[in-house]
Amino acid sequence: MLDHDPEVVLRTVGLTKRYGRLTALADLELEVPRGQVYGFLGPNGAGKTTTISLILGLIAPSGGHAEMFGLDTRTHLSEALRRTGAILEGPSFYPHLSGRDNLRVWGALSGSIGGRRLDEVLELVGLQARGRDKVRTYSLGMKQRLGLAAALLHDPDLLVLDEPTNGLDPAGMREFRQLIRELGQMGKTVFVSSHLLNEVELMCDHVGIVKGGRLLTQGSVATLLGRGQALEMQVTDPEKAVQVLESLDWVEGVKRQDDRLVVDAPSERAAELSRALAEHQIYLSVLRPLDSSLEEFFLEVTGEEMSR
Ligand SMILES: Nc1ncnc2c1ncn2[C@@H]1O[C@H](COP(=O)(O)OP(=O)(O)O)[C@@H](O)[C@H]1O
Ligand SMILES: [Mg+2]
Repeated sequence: MLDHDPEVVLRTVGLTKRYGRLTALADLELEVPRGQVYGFLGPNGAGKTTTISLILGLIAPSGGHAEMFGLDTRTHLSEALRRTGAILEGPSFYPHLSGRDNLRVWGALSGSIGGRRLDEVLELVGLQARGRDKVRTYSLGMKQRLGLAAALLHDPDLLVLDEPTNGLDPAGMREFRQLIRELGQMGKTVFVSSHLLNEVELMCDHVGIVKGGRLLTQGSVATLLGRGQALEMQVTDPEKAVQVLESLDWVEGVKRQDDRLVVDAPSERAAELSRALAEHQIYLSVLRPLDSSLEEFFLEVTGEEMSR
């Protein structure tokens, strides 16, 4: 605990879970930075729910451990959970009570939560107008937002959400993503799992990709995608073009495939680049920023497609 980096809110060390002969999770090393929305991305069966259940102490690991706020959950679980809010698959509410009364019941479990706080969290998730209506009249999206309100009651620093947009319609998903972004802007750290690429791309600052119980990669979305840091071009004299481009000190590298070049350079220098080539009588027929989408990236690291 002494070597805890305060910028890392959630960490797993060699986290492993076996079910008989099946290794659901192998040696997982996650690092979730403070104040980031971290997308835990992987196809069904990848081990996302297992990871989250381990982090929250709902199941016991076969090896390794998790830390939250530098607290080892093997010995300090309840202390860590006091600063954590969570949504697991489908939060359950009493349908005959109002959303507000459900929150009151929920809040009673975790100490005393005043009426003002109930209204605050209802407003935060956009349910203030419906807070006094019975939950059985709520849409799935509203129930999911009520789940988030419940997770926020005790004003946690960390939120752990397992596929919270599952089953929502596109509008509901969009609203929920927006909410999560706002929580990130409020300084909360959010660890959210998803099997949807574009969702993680739209919602998260950070991403970890898991497959078959193994973490394939993790890092900031911007870095992993190298967005805007590559230019694709077709030129009249590729061989000479490579020489010219490599002589520019702000070009990091050039890859060539026939007359198609991929240049590691900031996309805002495209004009300078074409001028440099023209000075050597090399002309461009195509020049565009290479927008490596998470999908391409995912394909690259997993060799497999994933549902969007
Ligand atoms: N209680 C269990 N007993 C046996 N196998 C399990 C159990 N829970 C999960 N698994 C298996 O562990 C793997 C990971 O599951 P899970 O964590 O639910 O994946 P995800 O949430 O990414 O879809 C799957 O192969 C699943 O069948
Ligand atoms: Mg799951």
